[in-house]
Amino acid sequence: MFTVGVLTVSDKGSRGERVDESGKVIQQCLASLGVQNTNYEIVPDERESISDRLKEWADEGVDLILTTGGTGLAPRDVTPEATLDIVDRIVPGFGEAMRAQSLEYTPLAMLSRAVAGIRGRTLIINLPGSPKAVKECLGAILPALPHALETVRGQAAECAQS
Ligand code: MTE
Repeated sequence: MFTVGVLTVSDKGSRGERVDESGKVIQQCLASLGVQNTNYEIVPDERESISDRLKEWADEGVDLILTTGGTGLAPRDVTPEATLDIVDRIVPGFGEAMRAQSLEYTPLAMLSRAVAGIRGRTLIINLPGSPKAVKECLGAILPALPHALETVRGQAAECAQS
């Protein structure tokens, strides 16, 4: 059983001016996988607010943190920078897989700068902000997540298949 934190990054959401559909979509997907959702919060698009929360949850020992929003090109989109501020190692494959698969749905997929990384024993993955993008990107990465989480915890058996 893995524990998961969902961090929605949205100025409007944090002010209560927008319903957080994307955070709900993530939580529904996780529930269907039987994953335990430990933390959920909405923060504004502020680099320090985002990195502080990521650091806090990771240092509490949450296995996986999924962020949604703030990965694009707008001036206030700083989720990737906030994530890179606090991870020990980056994991480029998640962003690569999300963008590669998403380009089959929309050319706008190339506008997401989503990154992933590891802090301690916590895997942190950025997702774009729209509910549609969240579903599509989760679809791209879910097959690799269980093994990724086991590996981060140091529990995975041999990766190589004979
Ligand atoms: N990826 C998928 N799979 N589907 C989408 O609809 N939208 C894109 C992109 N990635 C999209 C997607 C768009 S329009 C933007 S602007 C970027 O994600 C960044 O979104 P964000 O700033 O809300 O994180």
